[in-house]
Amino acid sequence: MKIVIGNDHAALEMKREIAEYLKGKGIEVLNVGTDSPERYPYPLAGYHVAKTVAEGGADCGIAICGTGIGISLAANKVPGIRAFACSEPYSSEMAKRHNNANVLCFGARVVGTELAKRIVDAWLNAEFEGGRHKERVDMITELERNGRLEENRL
Ligand code: RB5
Repeated sequence: MKIVIGNDHAALEMKREIAEYLKGKGIEVLNVGTDSPERYPYPLAGYHVAKTVAEGGADCGIAICGTGIGISLAANKVPGIRAFACSEPYSSEMAKRHNNANVLCFGARVVGTELAKRIVDAWLNAEFEGGRHKERVDMITELERNGRLEENRL
C-alpha cells in the first residue's frame, strides 16, 4: 500500500510522526507536505494530497493541518476525492465502511499523536461495505460531476 501524506506548518511534527508510524507498518509513504516551520497554506497541502490520490499516485491520502478542517475543504474540491476531518476512531472507521473516504484529515492542534494513530488504524483497517452505501457514494460522484442530483430516487 502507498499513502500520500501532506501538511501545513501547523502539522509538521504530527506529519513526521504519522509518516514514521506508517513506514513502521511497511506502508510506502509519499510526502507532499511542507517540511519547513514557515507558514504554508493548507489549501496547497490539501490540493497536493488530493491530486496525488485522484491521479492514482497513491492508494489513499492523509492530510493534516491545525484543525483538519481547512485542508479537508480544499481536498474535497478535487474531483474524485472524498475527504473527511476526523478526531476520533469511530467516525474514521465509518468513513471507510459507509463513505469509502479516500483522504483522512485531522488536526494536529486537536488530537494527540497516539489518538491520531488510532484514527489512522481505524480507517486503514476498515473495508468499504458497498451495497446501499455504494449507491449513496455514487450520488456524491453524480453531484460532483453534474452540480446537481436527481431528486426522485428515494
Ligand atoms: C493555520 O494557522 C491554520 O489555520 C490551519 O492549520 C488550519 O487549522 C486551517 O483549517
